[in-house]
Amino acid sequence: MATIDPAVVDGARVRYEAACAAGLNLDMTRGKPSPEQLARSHGLLRAVDREDDPAADGTDCRNYGGDPRGLPEMRAIFAEILEVDPELVFVGGNASLQWMHDLVVQAMLVGVPGGDPWGGPRRSTPVKFLCPCPGYDRHFSVLERFGIEMLLIAMGDDGPDVEEVARLAGEDPNVKGMFCVPRYSNPTGVTYSDDVVEAIAAMKTAAPDFRVIWDDAYALHAFEGEPDPLANLYDRCAAHGHEDRALLVTSFSKVTFGGAGLAAVAASPRNGDWIRSFRSIQTIGPNKLNQLAHARFFDGSLSAVRDHMKGHADLIRPKFETVLRVLDDRLGGLDVASWSRPRGGYFVSLDTESGCARAVVEMAGNAGVKLTPAGATFPYGLDPQDRNIRIAPTLPALAEIETATGLLADCIVLVSAGA
Ligand SMILES: Cc1ncc(COP(=O)(O)O)c(C=O)c1O
Repeated sequence: MATIDPAVVDGARVRYEAACAAGLNLDMTRGKPSPEQLARSHGLLRAVDREDDPAADGTDCRNYGGDPRGLPEMRAIFAEILEVDPELVFVGGNASLQWMHDLVVQAMLVGVPGGDPWGGPRRSTPVKFLCPCPGYDRHFSVLERFGIEMLLIAMGDDGPDVEEVARLAGEDPNVKGMFCVPRYSNPTGVTYSDDVVEAIAAMKTAAPDFRVIWDDAYALHAFEGEPDPLANLYDRCAAHGHEDRALLVTSFSKVTFGGAGLAAVAASPRNGDWIRSFRSIQTIGPNKLNQLAHARFFDGSLSAVRDHMKGHADLIRPKFETVLRVLDDRLGGLDVASWSRPRGGYFVSLDTESGCARAVVEMAGNAGVKLTPAGATFPYGLDPQDRNIRIAPTLPALAEIETATGLLADCIVLVSAGA
């Protein structure tokens, strides 16, 4: 238990009690775009409104048909984002999470190219995945649903502990893959260094069908200036003769509409044939109208997307600055918590002292401030040290963020002091 100046604890208690009496109802649980961000994409809804309005290749987007990989104009934009050849890109659906889920399901049932099914009655030992932690809870939900054992990998300032990754992947053929959020990671905000990317690409894996699901969800999401550069996993894997290792995904959920953006996946030609084999059974074709609307809205150019993202950054940056200012003011110098200072993405990751996070989240909830459940950033919802809290400030208004973060800080003081 931390020793904190009693005046600081008293101040926190007075404010906490006042907050309880005020009946707050604030939500900082999920990284959603704000209404102001969504409004900036409304032009999408009017971008395709003529009866005779085919895509550049003549495809009538209202009908079945066209390239099952999606419209060439959007595949080109996603290819530029993921830094791969457009031939390797599939655009479909609105949720990258659905692609990730599907990649895992297909691997379990059918197997990835070069391997047997990861699941099924013939397999006596469960498949395992490497999970950099703290990480994205929905990745863990996918793995948990299919009984894939999750092995915790510590996150550092430049990405996951790659020595541990290489050791586990190198010695156990049941370790079949790894989820990564390589840029402005959820929740730590870390961008993987070139050395980390290189190590993931180069390592020898005991499983010949090892896959890295490279979730570049925040590829465009800098708060200021250009996004952090990121080494090209696909190229690095190919350079080491492992081009099938990389499965790249991203989406426009936090570019245009959270519920109606576009998602894309890119992979080697062999993986691409595999993806095409199940996609062509799942759907006769993706929603091309939404792809056309996006292509028109952004004039078919990534630089228009980047400009659009600068507008988002102007809305988001003050929210993160508010969180950091309040945390600095209330907790700076108290030695009861540490927090990330992200340059992009959607989250601040905060660590309390061991054994405090659950109590803090519960206490904040009792005062009407909902936070992501403690433990959510770890597999099975279990943070071994009960320390990590994910703060998601994009959705609420500035004043709400100020109040909610202040209350969170007060709860940390009170729980840390055992008050
Ligand atoms: C790392 C990461 N990947 C994927 C998603 C969800 O993306 P989509 O809406 O494309 O499924 C999120 C949303 O928070 C995320 O943080």
